[in-house]
Amino acid sequence: MDAREIRHVMGHFATGVTIITTKDKAGVPTGITANAFSSLSLDPPLVLVCIDKKANCYDCFEDSGLFAVNLLGEHQEHIANRFATKGIEKFQDIAWHMSGNDIPLLDETIGYIECTVGPGYDGGDHTIYLGQVIHAQAAGERPLLFFKGKYQRLRKRTRSAWGARGRMRWARAGLKPAPTPPCAGTSRVETCP
Ligand SMILES: Cc1cc2nc3c(=O)[nH]c(=O)nc-3n(C[C@H](O)[C@H](O)[C@H](O)COP(=O)(O)O)c2cc1C
Repeated sequence: MDAREIRHVMGHFATGVTIITTKDKAGVPTGITANAFSSLSLDPPLVLVCIDKKANCYDCFEDSGLFAVNLLGEHQEHIANRFATKGIEKFQDIAWHMSGNDIPLLDETIGYIECTVGPGYDGGDHTIYLGQVIHAQAAGERPLLFFKGKYQRLRKRTRSAWGARGRMRWARAGLKPAPTPPCAGTSRVETCP
């Protein structure tokens, strides 16, 4: 299969958006935008991240032996763009702090997972790193999402919004309004404007 087709299909798998932060040999913070992240094991607590072998910060993972997965909120699309751009000073004008474990953490995320770097496995043009979780925290319900090559966000589907739209659709079809569906009050994905 050709790479464009594979990318197209993979884009149909919705993910959150993370910034993987670490430090270079001099202790300077660095990081990349990544959605190839997964929770892996609870006992022991493990996660996995996939890092492009061509990423400028590639060597920093093994050099520092530490990284953090910062879970972006829907208000942080500009941070995702910044950390996906090569050749810029990524931490400039970004609020961050060094954690007690000496790992750079971004401020105002919806959560973070601090890890020591575990074994790396060859994954084609990426390396799959296991992260041994040393500390993690989360609060917030508004994640930034990535789907079909675009940033997206969740929107609450309210009863009244569903009712208005549903009534219009049914009226156009010359039918009686549908009953309120059981999914009212759940979330749906919406493209960021
Ligand atoms: C939504 C999104 C998800 C990405 N996911 C990954 C990923 O999981 N792993 C990876 O190595 N690069 C990923 N990238 C690409 C890197 O963020 C980008 O190439 C970055 O600039 C590499 O960092 P560098 O400046 O250190 O080379 C992603 C980019 C975007 C926009």
